[in-house]
Amino acid sequence: MHLKWKTLLAMLNKPALTIAFIDSGVGGLTILDEVVKLLPYENFIYLADYCGFPYGQKNQKELLTRLETVAQFLMSHKIDILVIACNTASTTFLAHLRQQFGIPIVGVIPPIKLAAKLSKTKVIGILGTSTTVKTAYTQKLIDDFAQGCQVVSVGSPSLVEAAERKLQGLSIDLSAIAAQLEPFRQAKNLDTVALSCTHFPHLIEEFRQLGFNYINFVSPAEGVARQTALVAKAHRATHSQDKPSVMKAFCTKNISFTKERVAEITLFYEKRSMIVEWVSL
Ligand code: DGL
Repeated sequence: MHLKWKTLLAMLNKPALTIAFIDSGVGGLTILDEVVKLLPYENFIYLADYCGFPYGQKNQKELLTRLETVAQFLMSHKIDILVIACNTASTTFLAHLRQQFGIPIVGVIPPIKLAAKLSKTKVIGILGTSTTVKTAYTQKLIDDFAQGCQVVSVGSPSLVEAAERKLQGLSIDLSAIAAQLEPFRQAKNLDTVALSCTHFPHLIEEFRQLGFNYINFVSPAEGVARQTALVAKAHRATHSQDKPSVMKAFCTKNISFTKERVAEITLFYEKRSMIVEWVSL
């Protein structure tokens, strides 16, 4: 009994875990949002790599160099878990990063399995960056989990831009968004789309405004949050302190509007304050 109390007290006194997120911009906030709901007492670092933006338009070598640079920077902050909150990065270099860095790394991959499961018509869409829709990893997900489905893939760098503009408070062109989604409108009976870029859940409202309410747009965010919580539990039991977590963000480019916007966005998402710092990487 005495020993049990001692263990319990030790657990309560354990410091929070530090969980870091990487994305090229505001996309990974859609993942952070869900993770915070499940792990409200841990500490979080969000890295918006605007210097490397957009990841989906980089060649493999450039992308790997960016990912190694930002991951190395986060490692110097003694992080416990790294979430690659980006489908482009995860479907290309997740295995590589896991090998390179000796901490648990959670990836975000296209929710094709979920989309295939939820689709009634078995006609599904995949909406990602031009890189993600073409990777061998994505093809394997289709082969493994969407065998019986007709799959319509759309790779769209301009939707990534639109999501950034929206969250940075700039105007967005609805007709340009509609043009990107046209292949889904054309596909007969398509009822489900796997959102395979973390930026795209930010545009759900616009997709609905454009008349796509008949499509179920599925995001991997909740699944990633559950996975991160499992990893956190395996790492060590999360503590139950009633203390708000520390939320910190780094941006790798000094974009004049970003500091306020990131803080605002995060406040909107997490309803807590956040420290934002520029870092040159
Ligand atoms: N949000 C990222 C993804 O999930 C990358 C978007 C980009 O920078 O091209 O793929």
